[in-house]
Formats: sequence, structure tokens, C-alpha cells
Amino acid sequence: MGKARCTAIILAAGKGSRMGTKVHKQYLEMAGKPILYYSLRTFQESEIIDEILLVTGAGEEEYCRENIVNRYGFTKVKKILPGGAERYHSVHNGLQTMEEEGYVFIHDGARPFVTKEIIERAYEQVQTEKACVVGMPVKDTIKIADDKERVSDTPDRNRLWLIQTPQVFEKVLVKTAYEELMKKEDIQVTDDAMVVELITKHPVKLVRGSYENIKITTPEDLKIGEIFVKSYFMAE
Ligand code: CTP
Ligand code: MG
Repeated sequence: MGKARCTAIILAAGKGSRMGTKVHKQYLEMAGKPILYYSLRTFQESEIIDEILLVTGAGEEEYCRENIVNRYGFTKVKKILPGGAERYHSVHNGLQTMEEEGYVFIHDGARPFVTKEIIERAYEQVQTEKACVVGMPVKDTIKIADDKERVSDTPDRNRLWLIQTPQVFEKVLVKTAYEELMKKEDIQVTDDAMVVELITKHPVKLVRGSYENIKITTPEDLKIGEIFVKSYFMAE
């Protein structure tokens, strides 16, 4: 049996408000390359991935095509599409333009340190589980706060995971879930697994990512990122 068709949707339509820079954070340079370059490179080089859909801010498509996709030769990028106001709008835009055969890897363009091994582990799981997300067990104690910022609960740390991307699904399952989601009012979702959990009740399997697979969100993440780039991408 041949390998299933695997599409990556790379999300780069955010405004990076927590980073606080004028340039949207995915285009900021880290060790001489735009942050978005690193995850695109890993998906480009992964043998599992057949094609990439890149979702950028509306009006940024040509900038991305010239300065990132063409410049670095990311030949697997088949479409560059505009995203929407919230992350789930951007994902929905990507899912809508995709055929229904195989699996989709939804990945944050602001998460440069995904590896080929992580993509492989997720691919292995999704073939039997149909829905899986990459994450890692938390290292800190997590507390739930009440509305006065007093502790209301301390969940058992052994069962808490930090969720990363890629989040990987059978295409039909996640497309159907997003179609249903978009019909609702007052949507409060922060990742794709939540959409599948809420709408389909299909179980979502956790797959180990890595503690380096961080999202670049605030300025201090850039400093850590510079260190990781040196050990990941420049050691070869
Ligand atoms: N994203 C997107 N479309 C949106 C919002 C986010 O494609 N409307 C993407 C971001 O570009 C990023 C990923 O989703 O790669 C994770 O989002 P996040 O880290 O929250 O990025 P931003 O929304 O850009 O940052 P902030 O929340 O600080 O504004
Ligand atoms: Mg955001």
C-alpha cells in the first residue's frame, strides 16, 4: 500500500501582538533567517509531506512568495492563501481549499523547531488514531485561578500536557469538524484538537513533541530561539 497523501497547513496570518514589534513576528529574523523559514524548511525536507499550504495575512501573499517561498526554494508550497481574524479562521481557509484524501498537519509558522522525527511520530500515530496532537508533559505545577486571581484548583501534574503543533488529523474528520464549528456563534477555541474534541467527540491522541518545539510568542522567546537555531540548523 502506498503512503497516504499528507498536506501541511502552515499558519502565518497572525499579527504577533504579544511580541509587540511592527513587523509581524513570523517575518522577524532569527539567526539571519525569518522565523517562518525554519518550519517551512523542515516540512519541505520531510519525506512524509507531499505539499504545503501557506496561510498568510491578507495582502502578504506576494511578500511571502518572493521573500520566503521563492527565495529559499520551498517547492512543496502549492498555495499561498489569506488567513482570517482568528487562528481558527486561518485554519478554516486552509482546510477549505484542500481535497479530502489523506492527512493534514496543521502547524504554527511561529514554531520553528519542529523536527522530521516529530512529523514521523505524528504520522505513525494518526494512521490508527485519526486525530493526534504533539505536546509534552508540563514541568511546572499548574493552578486554575478564580476571577479574583486566587487559586481555585491544582490539577494533578502527571496528567497535564503542554500542547504544541503539528496537530494531525484525517482530513475528512477535521474538515467536517471545522464546517460545524463555523456555524456556531461565540466560538472560543485555541487549537485544532479542541475543535475535534468539541464537535466530533473523537478521541485525540497525545504524541511527544520536544521541549525545544517552542512557539515564538514574546521577546524572550527570540533569545532562546537564537540558541536553538545554532544547535539545530547550524550544527550540520
Ligand atoms: N495565526 C494565524 N491567523 C490568525 C492568528 C494566528 O494564522 N488569525 C497563526 C500565527 O501566525 C502563528 C500561529 O497561528 O503562527 C499561533 O498563533 P500566535 O502565537 O497566537 O500568533 P499571533 O496571533 O500572531 O500572536 P498574538 O496572539 O501575540 O497576536
Ligand atoms: Mg494569537
